Amino acid sequence: MYKVTLIPGDGIGPEITQVVVEIFDKLKAPISWEIVEAGAGAIKKYGTPLPETVLESIKRNKVALKGPITTPVGEGFRSVNVTLREKLDLYANLRPVKSLPEINDKFENIDLVIIRENTECLYKGIEYKIDEDTACAVRVVTKKASERIARFAFDYARNHNRRKVTAVHKANIQKITDGLFLQCIREVSEYFPDIEYEEKIVDNMSMQLVLNPEKFDVIVCPNLYGDILSDLAAGLIGGLGLAPGANIGEEIAVFEAVHGSAPDITGKGIANPIALLRSSVMLLEYLKEENFAKKLELAIENAVADKNILTPDLNGYGTTESLKNKIISLLKI
Ligand code: NAI
Repeated sequence: MYKVTLIPGDGIGPEITQVVVEIFDKLKAPISWEIVEAGAGAIKKYGTPLPETVLESIKRNKVALKGPITTPVGEGFRSVNVTLREKLDLYANLRPVKSLPEINDKFENIDLVIIRENTECLYKGIEYKIDEDTACAVRVVTKKASERIARFAFDYARNHNRRKVTAVHKANIQKITDGLFLQCIREVSEYFPDIEYEEKIVDNMSMQLVLNPEKFDVIVCPNLYGDILSDLAAGLIGGLGLAPGANIGEEIAVFEAVHGSAPDITGKGIANPIALLRSSVMLLEYLKEENFAKKLELAIENAVADKNILTPDLNGYGTTESLKNKIISLLKI
């Protein structure tokens, strides 16, 4: 039995994490949850959005499943998501983008992976004002972090039978920061002659992804471009309700959906739990529980064929509850 930290999070977080807990229970997956609170709810109780007990729990258990956490815009506390990634040194953000059958008529067979550097770039949060009318932000790129994410991307490609790595950058303008990032990826690419390597400027990459997503395989990006491109790519497979992710470090991994707390639909019972369920499939794979992972993945794939039970973000007529019940009914236990 593995003990896994569970952070329900804000907004739709508690609604969708509850679905995972119920489905894992039905699946009889060998997981026991240690539930801890972070985010807006934690502030009222503990005076901080990220209590030390949350970090301790993740460090102890080494694996966590996390619901989305709200970050105030333009004011207030620093992003809990960014702080967690930084404090636990979860340097690789792994975001597979894979079509589900019958969901999207624009593209049917998308199967790519975005690997986003997760600890630096503009997310260091170094900002200051020069005077009332002028604000600056510092973008940090280091050789150590760039080489590490490059190695992660090429290793991932080799271990998952992927054929190509595309590095995304803006080194024509950000010559020093993106220049360093690109130089590191190039150097690492030379150790992987079996993997094709290419480079794309981020603006062109955005268009290429929309026009020809099937041309891409593993995509490695600095933090900000990875953040933006992964929402774009989620749109290609039918939306944020389907896109899973994982934050991975040397010894610790925190699994979470790509999407945020979705305040516009919170409490309406229509949040799509599939993105977090697919993140949970990744968690089971990470724990080498391939059998349970396959069963859950298959049930999700089969469930989406029934339009009546799908949530509205997938143009369905169902609810979180109807989608959950369908998936449970399809679990081959
Ligand atoms: P969002 O991802 O929460 O929502 C964008 C749109 O997608 C909304 O219309 C929402 O209803 C829809 N959506 C998202 N997830 C869905 C799901 N599972 N089912 C159905 N529809 C879904 O992005 P937004 O509105 O920009 O951010 C809201 C809050 O979430 C912000 O405070 C932001 O900082 C935070 N956030 C947290 C993340 C995390 O915890 N890792 C990631 C992204 C944003």
